[in-house]
Amino acid sequence: MQHTIERSLVIGASGQIGVELLLELGRIHGTENVIGADIRPPAQKELEVFTFEHLNILNEDQLEEVLRKHNIDTVYNLAAMLSATAEKYPEKGWDLNMTGLFNTLNAAKKGLFKKLFWPSSIAVFGPTTPKENVPQSTITEPTTVYGISKLAGEQWCAYYQKQYGVDVRSIRYPGLIGHRSEPGGGTTDYAVDIFFKAIQEGKYTSFLAEDMRLPMMYMEDAIRATIELMQADTEKISVRTSYNINGVDFTPAELAEQICQRMPEFEISYDPDFRQQIAETWPSSIDDSQAANDWNWRAKTDVNSLVDIMLTAIQKKKELAET
Ligand code: SER
Repeated sequence: MQHTIERSLVIGASGQIGVELLLELGRIHGTENVIGADIRPPAQKELEVFTFEHLNILNEDQLEEVLRKHNIDTVYNLAAMLSATAEKYPEKGWDLNMTGLFNTLNAAKKGLFKKLFWPSSIAVFGPTTPKENVPQSTITEPTTVYGISKLAGEQWCAYYQKQYGVDVRSIRYPGLIGHRSEPGGGTTDYAVDIFFKAIQEGKYTSFLAEDMRLPMMYMEDAIRATIELMQADTEKISVRTSYNINGVDFTPAELAEQICQRMPEFEISYDPDFRQQIAETWPSSIDDSQAANDWNWRAKTDVNSLVDIMLTAIQKKKELAET
């Protein structure tokens, strides 16, 4: 049956990005047209309005069944093992990130749905990449399992688009900062944890060194980038590996300083662990002029607003929990 309403499936809907993307797609297309899928149950109460499928992305048959059952047009495949966890489980990380991608690429190739979003990351860059304003096309020699899987994945996306006409689109996300969901297993997680700890305990110990500058972005900008890319006309998409997007950049010390300005009693200390070594291989800022030219991308949230939004939202959450 023909349908004109866009029906989306978010795989990894219990994860940091998935929760927020599900909510935003629900606002745009109607919650009845957005299906969540994850190996974990829905993370939050506000997600109860969505139909939710228990799905292991490594199970191709199960994926195809879900796609057919819900007459899906667009798939957002966010199921992945992030940088820090993948260093602990290299083969598992590779398998989840690669087989998961192949299963969705192949389902798209079979015509089971029309458009695929798959996230890449600043982790495709490595120690030999320029540190500042990294261009769209540059040296990519990642040294982490996660980075290797994202780089290979980008190339597979471009291959499936070129050889089989699969409409797959991708963004290299920087570290993402939001208050509705928790990150899990990433090197940039400190920039979310710090806000929760500031409100709950008034202090935080950073696992990255005080001067470790990384590219970051407020979650709302990242979700908007994702939706804008997916809505862009096909002929505007000149990059079929993955687009650079830039938001803000700061060090743990600079972020702590911003928090101190609003909470003078806040205390920061530093105890860098293995994630510092991962972070050292990544750049500090990104040139996103290709995304700007192709589909008018522009980040809106600066560090000041980001800190205001995060502290206010988490404080509110705490107060609600206490009443
Ligand atoms: N935020 C991710 C990580 O730290 C990078 O894509 O692993």
